[in-house]
Amino acid sequence: MYLPQDSIRKKRDALQLTEWEIHQFVNGICDDSVSEGQIAALAMAIYFNGMNADETISLTQAMRDSGDVLSWPKSEFDGPILDKHSTGGIGDVVSLMLGPIIAACGGYVPMISGRGLGHTGGTLDKLDSIPGYQSTPDNDTFKNVVKKAGVAIIGQTGNLAPADRRFYATRDITATVESIPLITASILSKKLSEGLDGLVMDVKSGNGAFMPSHAKSLELARKIVSVGGQLGVSTSALVTDMNEPLASTAGNALEVKLAVDYLTGRHRDARLHEVTQALAVESLLSGGIAKSLDDAKQRVIKALDTGSAAERFAEMVRLLNGPADFIERPEHYLSEAKIIEPVYAPDKHLDMYLSEYDTRSIGMAVVQLGGGRRKADDTLDLSVGIKHMTPLGTQLSKGRPLAWICGNDRCKVDIAREMFLSAMTFTETALPPNPVIYERLTR
Ligand code: URA
Repeated sequence: MYLPQDSIRKKRDALQLTEWEIHQFVNGICDDSVSEGQIAALAMAIYFNGMNADETISLTQAMRDSGDVLSWPKSEFDGPILDKHSTGGIGDVVSLMLGPIIAACGGYVPMISGRGLGHTGGTLDKLDSIPGYQSTPDNDTFKNVVKKAGVAIIGQTGNLAPADRRFYATRDITATVESIPLITASILSKKLSEGLDGLVMDVKSGNGAFMPSHAKSLELARKIVSVGGQLGVSTSALVTDMNEPLASTAGNALEVKLAVDYLTGRHRDARLHEVTQALAVESLLSGGIAKSLDDAKQRVIKALDTGSAAERFAEMVRLLNGPADFIERPEHYLSEAKIIEPVYAPDKHLDMYLSEYDTRSIGMAVVQLGGGRRKADDTLDLSVGIKHMTPLGTQLSKGRPLAWICGNDRCKVDIAREMFLSAMTFTETALPPNPVIYERLTR
């Protein structure tokens, strides 16, 4: 007979759990035979004593298999099934461009995304700003859109990795989120239940990142590449910079506009472009669509230059009940904030250089405007945010705004402006720029 307390005791004493014990515990999470207290106790024991490679693989497998695993018959899907996951950041709208780029290059992208919580944004919230967009379709519609458009970006659906929902909810309230094996199993169980051939991870590093240090970001990236690979999915990872917002804009509808401008070639922020292209290249390599880095780069550029990535995005929006002419007239559909005001640096900083952002605080300024959640059931104001943020390294000049605050409430706009100004450090001389991509990890 299996007793969850035996697994908790073993892990408390830093012993290794067997595959059978881990599967039993995960089954107990799903059928409620393991209590919340027991989940919390095991999570804390893992937090302190870790898990070795075999245990992490077993936990990922057990959580993946706790629900449905999607399948994509080769007779209907003639390319690899690919996806990407980011540990989250500010102005990180990559998914909205990356999915369509991969689709335009011959991959299929069944992307299941989450909502924002805390200082980082969520892809699903961004998509909510497209009127009519159906982000919780039934399974048949989901598959049909993936087949026709090559990409469907939707919310958590049906019964994928249900064990993670309960496990994560308990970790969230017991200070046990920050454990590399638990994060690895949580992320990978959900992604692998999509039935992928290839996965690329974007692990953020910096003062707006979820991981607390560069070393931890790197450790997580290595672990995910290794466990994903051992579970049969070609997995690679980039460790990318989050010491400043990835794009010049943060806020839901504002980022969707930015994504459309990117896909249609109207405007591309340099850092956002670099990360999007690099992740697309890794995806094409992991799915075997491209044979070399150069080949992959050429395919990505072609998908953007010919407009075929933009067409895939438009098709996905149309098939999921959004407006058929969304990418031709995004401003017609996206709601705009009533107050849009410039932020200027105090005169004493003129001619100095913008040298650092406290990126997490910028995310919190967007939350303060109503664009993000403090708790899971908060309703968002999708129109608010901060746009045209000045990149690090810029020399300040009189009359040039540092950014524009977009909000609907006078008091919230004033607070967000102060938060934004306090999130900046100015220096007499320019500091060397941060790299955009720190590491590339493949198996
Ligand atoms: N994101 C997840 O999906 N799971 C974690 O454990 C941490 C971040």
